[in-house]
Amino acid sequence: MSKIRIPSIPASEITSEAVWLSRRKWLQQAGAGALALGAGGLLSSPRSTLAAASQSVLPATPNPDYWLSNKLTSEKDVSSYNNYYEFGTGKSDPFEYAHKMETRPWTVSVEGEVAKPRTFDIDDLLKLAPIEERIYRLRCVEAWSMVIPWSGYSLSTLLKQVEPTSKAKYIEFVTAVQPKNMPGLDDRIINWPYREGLRIDEAMHPLTMLVFGVYGKTLPNQNGAPMRVAIPWKYGFKSGKSIVKIRLVEKMPATSWVETAPQEYGFYANVNPQVAHPRWSQATERRIGDGFFAPRVETLMFNGYAEQVSSLYAGMDLRKNY
Ligand code: MTE
Repeated sequence: MSKIRIPSIPASEITSEAVWLSRRKWLQQAGAGALALGAGGLLSSPRSTLAAASQSVLPATPNPDYWLSNKLTSEKDVSSYNNYYEFGTGKSDPFEYAHKMETRPWTVSVEGEVAKPRTFDIDDLLKLAPIEERIYRLRCVEAWSMVIPWSGYSLSTLLKQVEPTSKAKYIEFVTAVQPKNMPGLDDRIINWPYREGLRIDEAMHPLTMLVFGVYGKTLPNQNGAPMRVAIPWKYGFKSGKSIVKIRLVEKMPATSWVETAPQEYGFYANVNPQVAHPRWSQATERRIGDGFFAPRVETLMFNGYAEQVSSLYAGMDLRKNY
């Protein structure tokens, strides 16, 4: 994997939030014309200033083991083209409405089949291990993709703290529910809270990341502040956002999308160009930011992470375990 360096703003340059915000606003306005032509981009709006105000610098050390040479998706696209159904089903709804979500105080309870169940304060989780910057591919089941510099550390670091028992075969992630702040909850498309899950060996894999930031800053709410997971070889929906509970369990948990549409979504949800979704192919993808008429790119097995993760599925029929 070739290395690229992500430009980040040194803390010393951030002398005043107002200066930083006006610079950002100028950049947003400068990019507005191009975004209007791109896929799913948003024109600059007062909301963008608010979204930026909720973020702060999050120092992170680039981890050379997780660098990709792919062109990064712009920060603007990463934070304005989102799936976060708690705020609505439109791609721009999370950007428009997620600023209302309250992300402090925030605790994460880690419970179930563990020797030492514990409730962590989010600010303690930020200090649990050095924050690394890793560039990951994200491939959505809707056949679009992004390349994103996330900041955080491996989920296994947290799980080791609570000492999973031998009965911990699976792990469940539960997202926050804030009825006053999440307009999408009125839509009963999902039986809230949003829940996702992994097999324990998938959860312990070093690629499975607890994410606190993106582009050198804390996560914008629409990307899952204050903490989400990123599992880059699986379709994007596996990466639950704004997590409040992590439960280790013996039986495969009922996850939100499997519960909502079992004929369309499986528990594993590994990116697999050979297994089509019942209503569309998964063989190719559209890179967000390349423009609607740009040629589609081929989707790679396990989203390009086959070397690292294919052994997790040795002997499994991935057509049945989709
Ligand atoms: N987490 C919650 N709580 N609610 C959601 O609707 N959408 C999922 C996933 N996590 C979702 C969620 C889907 S479908 C995708 S593709 C990714 O979040 C998108 O993450 P991003 O917006 O940061 O790119």
